[in-house]
Amino acid sequence: MFERLSTSETDPILALMQAFQADPRPNKVDLGIGVWRDAEGRTPVFQAVKTAEERIWHSQDSKIYVGFRGDPGFHAAVSDLLLGPEGDGDWRAASATTGGTSAVQTALALARTARPDLRVWVPEESWPNHWVLARSLGLETRNFTYIDPATQEIERAGLLRDLAGARAGDVVLLHACCHNPTGADPDPELQEEIVTSLAQSGAIPVVDCAYLGFGAAPEADLAFLRRLSALPESIVAFSGSKSFGLYRERVGLCLALTESARARDAVESQLTRLNRETYSFPPDHGARVVTEILTDPTLRASWDTELSAIRRALIDNRANLAASLRARLNSDAFDRLTRQNGMFAMLPLGTERVARLRAEHGLYIVGTGRINLAGVTEATCAPVADALAAVLR
Ligand code: LMR
Repeated sequence: MFERLSTSETDPILALMQAFQADPRPNKVDLGIGVWRDAEGRTPVFQAVKTAEERIWHSQDSKIYVGFRGDPGFHAAVSDLLLGPEGDGDWRAASATTGGTSAVQTALALARTARPDLRVWVPEESWPNHWVLARSLGLETRNFTYIDPATQEIERAGLLRDLAGARAGDVVLLHACCHNPTGADPDPELQEEIVTSLAQSGAIPVVDCAYLGFGAAPEADLAFLRRLSALPESIVAFSGSKSFGLYRERVGLCLALTESARARDAVESQLTRLNRETYSFPPDHGARVVTEILTDPTLRASWDTELSAIRRALIDNRANLAASLRARLNSDAFDRLTRQNGMFAMLPLGTERVARLRAEHGLYIVGTGRINLAGVTEATCAPVADALAAVLR
């Protein structure tokens, strides 16, 4: 049987991660996978996580299954964080998932159950796995205009024109904040226009929320998601990997906002079925850590402080790289880095320059030009800017 198999292509981001690890050069710089790194290149465990884990270690006396869809306390803690407490006429159905990838996958599988013929609209650019996940479920994907490649600004007219082509029951994939890979988020006016477009078409947003708190304080980073949640129906795919630094624990939540108690019950039963067909019960440890942090005022304050330190470092790294490129290229073309959000930005490199940067300078960059600003630290900024300037001149 296995003789029939050919080798599968590795996802470009994961392939880059492998190549970086295998590179013996001491001066190599990782601007690839979306993982936070501090000035020393480490990804430390949040102190809030350490304390929560210690408390759980002391208090937990059983590892028995929690619930078909994970712990309801986790659902409530994350859903309160994202949307505020549940109000009247607001029916939320949730399942814990194995990280953000599984949250998106579950969201799409849930939507497909209701509408097997739906199309998934994906912004052009987006996280490459969005297309992969939709297609692995047999769903048709359509791209909608998002970014102007020349300016790396959002192409507002094209975006709204394309979204008008969505029909009732289609899914529109949107990024809550810190758009991956461009770092370009819609301003409040465009957010409203997108919500109006979806209200008119009846398409359902699936909001990927993987970088909460990396662009601005969580309340501000949640503005677009909250606008979208005012639509009759929506789904949020939340990841705890980056915002809580719980990468390997696989913390995620698929949260559906429905219009009635009957619909909420139906969605919950479908989420239970989807879990049973894949892993039966979602993992609990990381979800419990997040619940402990979000429901304890002291831990929550500590998490907020640690998250804001990451955010400030990313903002500084953006400013330093923009200034370094301005100085080397005598151009303000990269000042936009300081106006964009989160971990990522796109540089006008193309595959050839990306390959040269890797071969000649040990600089690892995803695809045609996505960089992770966490890798542009005080120590690496000058060599990174030198290398970029050398290929961009
Ligand atoms: C990324 O975009 O680099 C991250 O979301 C990690 C991943 O799984 O691709």
